Amino acid sequence: MRLRIERIGAQGDGIAQTGDGPIFVPFTLAGDEIDAWLEPGPRGTIRAQMEGLITPGPGRQDAPCRHHGQCGGCSLQHLDADLYARWVADRVQMAMAQHGLGDCPMAPPQISPPSSRRRLSLKAMRTSRGVLLGFAMRQSHHLVDVRQCPVARPSLVALFKPLRALLHDLMPLRAASVISLTEADNGIDMVIDGGIAPGLSMREALAAFAQSRDIASLHVMEDGLCDPVAVNRRVEMVFDGIPVPLPPGGFIQATAEGEAALRALMLEWLEGAQNCVDLFAGIGTFSFPLARRARVLAVEGARTALDALQSGVNKASHLKGLTALHRDLFRRPLSAAELAPFDGLIIDPPRAGAVAQMGEIAKSGVRTVVAFSCNPNSFARDARILVDGGYQLCQISPVDQFLWSPHVELAALFTKS
Ligand SMILES: C[S@@+](CC[C@H](N)C(=O)[O-])C[C@H]1O[C@@H](n2cnc3c(N)ncnc32)[C@H](O)[C@@H]1O
Repeated sequence: MRLRIERIGAQGDGIAQTGDGPIFVPFTLAGDEIDAWLEPGPRGTIRAQMEGLITPGPGRQDAPCRHHGQCGGCSLQHLDADLYARWVADRVQMAMAQHGLGDCPMAPPQISPPSSRRRLSLKAMRTSRGVLLGFAMRQSHHLVDVRQCPVARPSLVALFKPLRALLHDLMPLRAASVISLTEADNGIDMVIDGGIAPGLSMREALAAFAQSRDIASLHVMEDGLCDPVAVNRRVEMVFDGIPVPLPPGGFIQATAEGEAALRALMLEWLEGAQNCVDLFAGIGTFSFPLARRARVLAVEGARTALDALQSGVNKASHLKGLTALHRDLFRRPLSAAELAPFDGLIIDPPRAGAVAQMGEIAKSGVRTVVAFSCNPNSFARDARILVDGGYQLCQISPVDQFLWSPHVELAALFTKS
């Protein structure tokens, strides 16, 4: 069937409108004229695979990665830089429009460059032909054996080949595993989840690997427990000059560039705030730089993250006004009454957003709210709650840390007078 693509949707697929409804075609863009074969998609949608590109639309580029089209990690490498930046902004704007907030002021997207992603979650599988290591194909469990990755830091990509060789010796046939790699500020944290059950000789092999590849810490998850197999040094992040331990597999912003962009916006928007609260604070990415000039209450639900943050606080004798609070903010959000002392607030929830907490903020009198989100859909829903509670949405700044993927992050400023 010949199709003309009209736009790119929220999941990164090109969309052709037909009499039978929209048809979703991966790896296409607006203006492409293509030959395609149709197939049923999930939930009654119609999908198609491009068979031939008759006329390319404007803004098409050659994908920089040889796995593009197969690997499910990226779906937008065929967009040139200008078109990709426009798509990021449109993606956020479309989500906002669904909640009646489509006219909010939007800054140009800040996009992390290639080779900057510092955390990866790789899948590994031992087959009769060797170990496959990489990412799942889109909407499939099929694993693509990845040899290059233009979005990840070269230090992480350099581990693919030796990791494959290591796992070949350790994994039984048909075993599957997830390998999390995070490059913190003083080295790489590796967590192997599933697929191996390390006895003494395996531990020795893993420790030798960690030593030879300068892996700072290597843990194996077994029965829900995190087993430290080789800890050459404590993995740390440095926030505003303060070293903070990173728990195994702990959360950091996906790129240093993205973290810097979010931090700069936060410090600008909270200028003048004296008493701030940082909700979903993690290990203190935003609390530490803000605590240099304001009192900060950091609230976090993961005990390991909070302990790490507290350890940073203990080392920073000059930070008299940074305190940490352990709290499940889904079950027990900070109430409007508890928020009364604060004039500045940061909120950075997981992908699902934070409906209950936003409801309490909406009722509060906190003057400035800085919201970070890795999901424009849940963010738009939560933003509506704040706007209905009397907040003005002053600006949205897309900050894209997942280059060429449909995952878009953003920062937003809300104020109440
Ligand atoms: C997107 S991360 C942000 C972390 C931090 N702001 C940063 O930039 O490093 C979301 C954080 O929310 C925490 N979290 C998840 N569910 C939570 C809950 N129910 N209550 C409190 N914190 C929670 C996670 O542990 C994680 O640290």
